Amino acid sequence: MTNPSLLILPGDGIGPEVMAEVRKIIDWYGAKRGLVFDVSEDLVGGCAYDKHGTPLHDDTMAKAQEVDAVLLGAVGGPQYDNLDFSVKPERGLLRLRKEMDLFSNLRPAQCFDALADFSSLKKDVVAGLDIMIVRELTSGVYFGEPRGIFKEGNERVGINTQRYTESEIARVARSAFDLAMKRGKKLCSMEKANVMESGILWREVVTEVSKEYPEVELSHMYADAGAMQLTRWPKQFDVIVTDNLFGDLLSDLAAMLTGSLGMLPSASLGAPMANGRPKALYEPVHGSAPDIAGQGKANPIACILSFAMALRYSFDQGDEAARLEAAIEKVLADGLRTADLMGPEGGTPVSTSGMGDAIIAALDASL
Ligand code: IPM
Ligand code: MG
Repeated sequence: MTNPSLLILPGDGIGPEVMAEVRKIIDWYGAKRGLVFDVSEDLVGGCAYDKHGTPLHDDTMAKAQEVDAVLLGAVGGPQYDNLDFSVKPERGLLRLRKEMDLFSNLRPAQCFDALADFSSLKKDVVAGLDIMIVRELTSGVYFGEPRGIFKEGNERVGINTQRYTESEIARVARSAFDLAMKRGKKLCSMEKANVMESGILWREVVTEVSKEYPEVELSHMYADAGAMQLTRWPKQFDVIVTDNLFGDLLSDLAAMLTGSLGMLPSASLGAPMANGRPKALYEPVHGSAPDIAGQGKANPIACILSFAMALRYSFDQGDEAARLEAAIEKVLADGLRTADLMGPEGGTPVSTSGMGDAIIAALDASL
């Protein structure tokens, strides 16, 4: 049997630093759990632009289509701000999502006990929080046509189009219902059906799909009210399903409930491949944080948790994913803190690699 394959795209900014810690974890699973991956590495984002003049080389795109899972760090940086839109680092990431057809983006927001004090919200509002946002990732206003900046009379007009087909809504809804079945059997769908036709269709299709899942309790909320409810009492939610743009906003909001953007992983999943595994890309929710890049300050946990999601969703290793999550929980409970987690209550400061090493030690202790 051949080993499962991973393509690692560290990207820009803190991407390579946090990914170096993931490499240690991958090696640990190979050495200690017999879970050996065939790992290859390539460029995406600004570093790919610097080398090839494009944020994603066609060869890299082709590799991404072939492997069992892609792990991505982060893309972007101020030195690329003035590049033409078509070659900006973000276009590399968006091309991967689009061409791999990764329509279902899972963004968990989970509050680790040790960090409950760290949220900007009161502790009882966030302690024990465990919700999952399912964001549609390959359509909507991110990709709708027409788009562009056009001349209209003597001024310019910027246009983007929110567009959803029934099948696009139905497939992401099904992925959210499937997840809800494995969790608390509660799904809240968010759109703006009060002002957008695409929102009316979204609500209709989600309601239609819900008939296939009679056990799941479905509710609907306008996305603005959803944002308000997420800050007021987030524990009312289990799974949330929403479109590409609302999902972008709401997942950043949900991330911050947990105290740090440096903690949250994501999985972007598409249709099953011939081997039964879904097309998949795993990446932290945080960005490339150019202001702290190269200083050993970045928190590698979001990226490591993204690998845990890969173990769970691509490789059917839910127990090993739980082992890794428990190891992270343990080092946080022990008081280890990267700079972003250093709150008023203090803790033991650790560097990016110090955090990775501590997680390895906790994994060793779990055997
Ligand atoms: C995200 C990011 C991306 C998005 C950017 C980097 C293109 O904000 O993954 O949430 O807007 O989808
Ligand atoms: Mg975002």
